[in-house]
Amino acid sequence: MNLETKKDVATVEFQGKTYTTDLLVGSEGEVGLDMRDFRNQTGAICLDPGFGNTGSCTSAITFLDGEKGLIRHRGYKLQDLADNCNYLEVAYLLMLGELPTPYQYRQFLGKIHENNFLGPSLQELLNHYPTQSHPMAVLASVVLSLTGFYSDLGVDKFYELDLDVVRLLTKTPLIAAHNYRRKRGMKYIPPDNNLGYAENFLYSMFGRSVSPERRKIMAKALEKLLIIHADHEQNCSTSTVRVISSSNANVYAAVGGGIGALWGPLHGGANEAVINMLEYINMQGGDLEAVIKRAKDKNDEFRLMGFGHRVYKTYDPRAHIAKKVVDELLEDLGVEEPLVDIAMKLEKIAIEDDYFVSRNLYPNVDFYTGTAYKAMGIPKEMFTVLFAMGRMAGWLAHLLEFRADESRRISRPRQIYTGVTARDFVPMTER
Ligand code: SDX
Repeated sequence: MNLETKKDVATVEFQGKTYTTDLLVGSEGEVGLDMRDFRNQTGAICLDPGFGNTGSCTSAITFLDGEKGLIRHRGYKLQDLADNCNYLEVAYLLMLGELPTPYQYRQFLGKIHENNFLGPSLQELLNHYPTQSHPMAVLASVVLSLTGFYSDLGVDKFYELDLDVVRLLTKTPLIAAHNYRRKRGMKYIPPDNNLGYAENFLYSMFGRSVSPERRKIMAKALEKLLIIHADHEQNCSTSTVRVISSSNANVYAAVGGGIGALWGPLHGGANEAVINMLEYINMQGGDLEAVIKRAKDKNDEFRLMGFGHRVYKTYDPRAHIAKKVVDELLEDLGVEEPLVDIAMKLEKIAIEDDYFVSRNLYPNVDFYTGTAYKAMGIPKEMFTVLFAMGRMAGWLAHLLEFRADESRRISRPRQIYTGVTARDFVPMTER
């Protein structure tokens, strides 16, 4: 753990009590107070709903600088990884700490290929979901059900990777792709291991309805989009995976819970919500001012979806990459997407509006990604599933890191009780 401890350099004093805490300094200079003995010594807790000021762990996977709009995975700039790697290389880096050598990559790819299929019973399970089921509901429940298909939980190893980890990387896109096809009465397409990770997903989903040339263009964009979604330190869904792992629940239970957390429109569900918002604006004749007005209205629960972030107080660096991917994709596919123009106009108005500027609200990763998925012919209801496909590597990396942390404890936050104080019981006949 690359954590420097400066002894006893902070004190908290109240009601005649003094709590002296160590200052913990991370490898990038982030500072934390060691509050692990605070309640024992003072009887008080630290209340921080939403954990905006509370660290749940140390981690060596991803560093974010919200003020500068920086993101690095294991020390590498996200832009460099997006420009030079494919998704599986980044997944390897996140989970095992180093970019793979050619030999390590061949071994890793071999394991992926060995597990790159959906067996007949998994296909059958998918075929029995109501066709109107939301793809995120199907993904979460099928992932949770994988414990029923693979009883060798955590037994088989590939390096430090449980085979279950490799299975989740391979099955997730295939579950998504087959769910898309079975909802439309189409048969399962066995993946083609000659194709890359993103292209295999597109092939398993669209089959020959998309030409190999078009599929390659889409796959090039999708590999980058999966990479920019791969990890983002202690976001809501990754923290959920850690919390579930803290009870020693298995990998499928932890990731199934992470999928549920990601589904929310304030988190990964925002990419679907952004397209709904842009389509609404388009249908209303492009009245951007009305949308901006609603987003600023405290009495209106409407929010500018794809805007704002708990950590970034400037432009989300992933939004820059996503916008470039969208522009290249539309040009390579030779298509126009009016929603992109609406998004750009909306962004221009918002980032010059004091309401947004004063609250540090800028486009986040979800603002442009939906227009790329739309251009690929992926249905809106699957947008967050693609976010989950990318984030799978991060969830698994944090799960492995948590499991390897000898100081790990079950997550069990405290609270401050504000309910009715003690009172005597009253039998029903006397109420
Ligand atoms: C992701 O954590 C991660 O890393 C997440 C993620 C990842 O990779 O895992 O980056 C992925 O989830 C990106 C965020 C996607 N969600 C959205 O785009 C939904 C719209 N954004 C928001 O709802 C909001 O900005 C959040 C949820 C992203 C952040 O919420 P916070 O940090 O709790 O901020 P807040 O709700 O306290 O807002 C602070 C102020 C409030 O106004 P005041 O009370 O100060 O007057 O900003 C306002 C909010 O009303 N505000 C917005 C707004 N976001 C915040 N007002 C209008 N539109 C918005 N989008």
